[in-house]
Amino acid sequence: MSVAPSVLDALREIVGADGYFDQPADLQPFTVDHRKLYRGQTPLVLRPSSTEQVSRILRTCNEAGIGVVPVGGNTSYCGGGTPSADGTQVVVSLARMRRIRAVDPDNFTLIAEAGCVLAEVQDAAANVDRLFPLSLGSEGSCQLGGNLSTNAGGTAVLRYGMMRDLVLGLEVVLPDGRVWDGLKPLRKDNTGYDLRDLFIGAEGTLGIITAAACKLFSRPREVVTAIAAVKDPAAAVMSLSRLRAATGDAVTTFELIPRLGIDLVTRHVPNTHDPFDAPYRWYVLVEVSAGRSESGIRDLVEQELFALMEQGAALDAVLAQNEAQREDFWRMRETIPEAQRKEGASIKHDISVTTSELPRFIDEATRLLETITPDSRILPYGHLGDGNLHFNLSEPVGGNAAEFLALAPRIHRAMHDLVAQYGGSFSAEHGIGQLKREELVRYKHPVALEIMRSIKQALDPKGIMNPGKVL
Ligand code: MLT
Ligand code: ZN
Repeated sequence: MSVAPSVLDALREIVGADGYFDQPADLQPFTVDHRKLYRGQTPLVLRPSSTEQVSRILRTCNEAGIGVVPVGGNTSYCGGGTPSADGTQVVVSLARMRRIRAVDPDNFTLIAEAGCVLAEVQDAAANVDRLFPLSLGSEGSCQLGGNLSTNAGGTAVLRYGMMRDLVLGLEVVLPDGRVWDGLKPLRKDNTGYDLRDLFIGAEGTLGIITAAACKLFSRPREVVTAIAAVKDPAAAVMSLSRLRAATGDAVTTFELIPRLGIDLVTRHVPNTHDPFDAPYRWYVLVEVSAGRSESGIRDLVEQELFALMEQGAALDAVLAQNEAQREDFWRMRETIPEAQRKEGASIKHDISVTTSELPRFIDEATRLLETITPDSRILPYGHLGDGNLHFNLSEPVGGNAAEFLALAPRIHRAMHDLVAQYGGSFSAEHGIGQLKREELVRYKHPVALEIMRSIKQALDPKGIMNPGKVL
């Protein structure tokens, strides 16, 4: 079944001549996901410029029973913004809704539309000497609406939380076209169910978020960035606890990098080099920030790292001396996904357990993976401070990529069963999309699944919102 020409005409009319794509070359970028795992088709990409247009689009699609796929910057890791292959769904891109509607420095809030690129929201905050702390590798292209719909994480979650923690209010268009104006930038509004949290992380399956009231923070005046080689993951966790205590919870980033991460990055990414003369098995990227300059945090971090070295938990450490060196350190971390892609085929995970259990989990998961695929190269890296690692594998050197990838279902099952034993999450950061629907059914508590289905049925009885995603 394709979309009736009369419905397509009605949708084109809502957005006007500048508001849609319907030629194959323009549609193409919207039909494949960032990781190229999914290829879909669509007859029409709508690019509304107002909430009112989004409302009319959804009302029209709901009446006609047409599936709608909302898309932001198309940086999903799970195919959450890619239409189905049968060409029966229209895509709604929020890219033209990119106004900053209000900035209130004294309330520490701003209101931004869903199509704002994350970096634009960060800039709007910086322009009034405030910080919007969400920070991701894709911040130059991902959009606020996608960050909200996937409850994005990134590298400052340890200090500021995930997207969910950074939002006070939302404006949402429901599948039948009604608009919920919940944009109040209030910190206290204790009036019943928290509707906002329903839509955050719903991946566009309950409606389209068109704007958000976001929390801002004071801008750090002093930032200390270090890379330390640590004895093992247990030493890393212990180091984090010490640094948190010593700095009064001023640690914003604490990322684990195994040796393979350094090898891949220095091999594949220009302008990168090993921070130390000797190789080590494990590293952490640490960032600590303070609200005032000459706060003393630099000395504190130095003292703590020194003490950690004396007790053998840290093996070597280097503090960034200037902004250029800080960027070098960050490049070592942020280009790991790119370097792993360039190295060949990979199998990815996005798991979390408690930070305290992470060292034991890393040991056990590594041994488990080695029994299934002894020659693959294991790359557990990422957000140690959040208990969240991208527990990835790269194909064996000189191996056969197809044979390696054929093991993926077995590897995912073993890894996610182990995560479940630890009471962890099989998708800590990247959401469900199309990729992890079966995992959701297998691992989510059955009562939680029933509640999710009831909510979906209540808000989207015709099932038009992002069909085939999440549930
Ligand atoms: C990261 O932390 O680098 C991202 O979440 C991407 C990835 O999983 O590779
Ligand atoms: Zn991540």
